Amino acid sequence: MKYSRVNSAYVSGFEVKNIIVEVDINSKATQQIFKIVGMPNTAILESQKRVYSAIRNSGFTFPNGNVTVNLAPSNIKKQGTHFDLPIAISILLASKQISYEIDDYYIFGEIGLNGEIRGIPGITLLLLDISHKNKNAKFIIPKENEEESIFIENNEVYVIENLVEIIKILHPNEKENYKANPTKNFYEEKEEQLDFSEIKGQFFAKRAAEIAAAGFHNLLMTGSPGSGKTMIARRIPSILPEMTHDEIIESTKIYSIYGYLNKIVNKRPFRAPHHSASTASIIGGGSDSKPGEVSLANNGVLFLDEFPEFRTDVIEALRQPMEDGIVTISRAKLIATYPAKFMLVAAQNPCPCGYYGDPEHECTCSLNQITNYNKKISGPISDRIDIKIKVPRVKIDEMFDNSPGEKSEKIRERVENASIIQIKRQGKLNGKLSQKEVKKYIILEEKVEEFLKNGARKFKMTGRGINRILKVSRTIADLKGNTDISIEDIAEAFQFRGDSNL
Ligand SMILES: Nc1ncnc2c1ncn2[C@@H]1O[C@H](COP(=O)(O)OP(=O)(O)O)[C@@H](O)[C@H]1O
Ligand SMILES: [Mg+2]
Ligand SMILES: [Zn+2]
Repeated sequence: MKYSRVNSAYVSGFEVKNIIVEVDINSKATQQIFKIVGMPNTAILESQKRVYSAIRNSGFTFPNGNVTVNLAPSNIKKQGTHFDLPIAISILLASKQISYEIDDYYIFGEIGLNGEIRGIPGITLLLLDISHKNKNAKFIIPKENEEESIFIENNEVYVIENLVEIIKILHPNEKENYKANPTKNFYEEKEEQLDFSEIKGQFFAKRAAEIAAAGFHNLLMTGSPGSGKTMIARRIPSILPEMTHDEIIESTKIYSIYGYLNKIVNKRPFRAPHHSASTASIIGGGSDSKPGEVSLANNGVLFLDEFPEFRTDVIEALRQPMEDGIVTISRAKLIATYPAKFMLVAAQNPCPCGYYGDPEHECTCSLNQITNYNKKISGPISDRIDIKIKVPRVKIDEMFDNSPGEKSEKIRERVENASIIQIKRQGKLNGKLSQKEVKKYIILEEKVEEFLKNGARKFKMTGRGINRILKVSRTIADLKGNTDISIEDIAEAFQFRGDSNL
């Protein structure tokens, strides 16, 4: 019997499913037939062509007779080109062109017609998941994915560039040369980044951004074109706390699944999709249920500029991730769930023409147009934006003021300290507290509560509006390191509540 089996796996959403690649060769058959079962038809055809050519072009022979490949379990249709390499190796084993013990190996890689091995998406997740479940697992992965093995401590990982190298990788005396050697010391790598000190004036907006960063609160900025909204948004990652090791791993997994090969995400992501982007690209989905921008922004900032111009279904679909920190994509029978804990930073003009309320430009919109524009952001979404501010254009005098502004590093220190206090108290940041948790963790002194009540009455606020004030004032107090929230903190929080219709 000419039979062999090789371990592989594939990524389904944020999960890993084990696959066994079995090969059976009946060399007595008169006709040459090469059959793969257990994949979608189109993928099979392409994989067959690549594997067939790669084997022949690498100095091996494609076995005569009837070659059957089964990807087990066969009842689920598996996506992905990374079965090429395990299929090719399984064929070489079954036809006795190579003979090694490979029970502990998990193999992934796409093959080119010339035998070259190409990188594939999802390696970070595949390695981490399988190594957690199986301490003895060894891996053969494409060289193009080498850096992604950086999180693997105890399992052996080998990298392959060409199918012929398989002989050396499995050879006891030569395998050492093919061990993965990720080089990036990503904790130390620091590059020049945008800095808050470049923003002149705008003290109110900068303060709002600092509070938003400290509590991971969502932020909406309204202002006419050129007022500096984009400039502020782009600098928010520079004042967020450094990423933790777990956050780096989680974000790198998402980037890897998305198809950014070898990208270790060690800085808080900043994602700024255009308002014309499709629902699938923002929320996730498409034929391979890839993560979308909301997941790429996980642990960082999702910047939606010209927020009301986004498709209504996109804005509505932000609700689940904003509530739960995850996003669920369902397509046909496949359901994928990805992390999506982002800080939403949204920007908008005050009206379609952009100049409503601007002292220097006349607004050409009708009242109806202005109302409709602002209505686009529905109640449930608006309810989850704790901080809403107006950003007027910077004053001319301030623009010419050359005194240095405060550096991001300094602001980040305060933000980090405030974050530590929140995590200690309640295990999460204030911006992520549920209504129940607000009740439990945010308790006001009597006179402070009285002050809040009066304000709530005056501004005709809803329960949710009051919750937002509580959360934001909690962050303001945490930035000061105070246990109790003061009247002053509540008063400041009121400044960030936005207009009633926003
Ligand atoms: N407060 C500011 N300090 C320094 N430059 C500013 C400021 N506000 C605006 N600018 C300049 O104006 C440009 C346009 O600002 P931008 O952030 O794109 O405005 P908006 O997004 O509100 O339309 C910026 O790239 C920057 O050069
Ligand atoms: Mg802008
Ligand atoms: Zn207008």
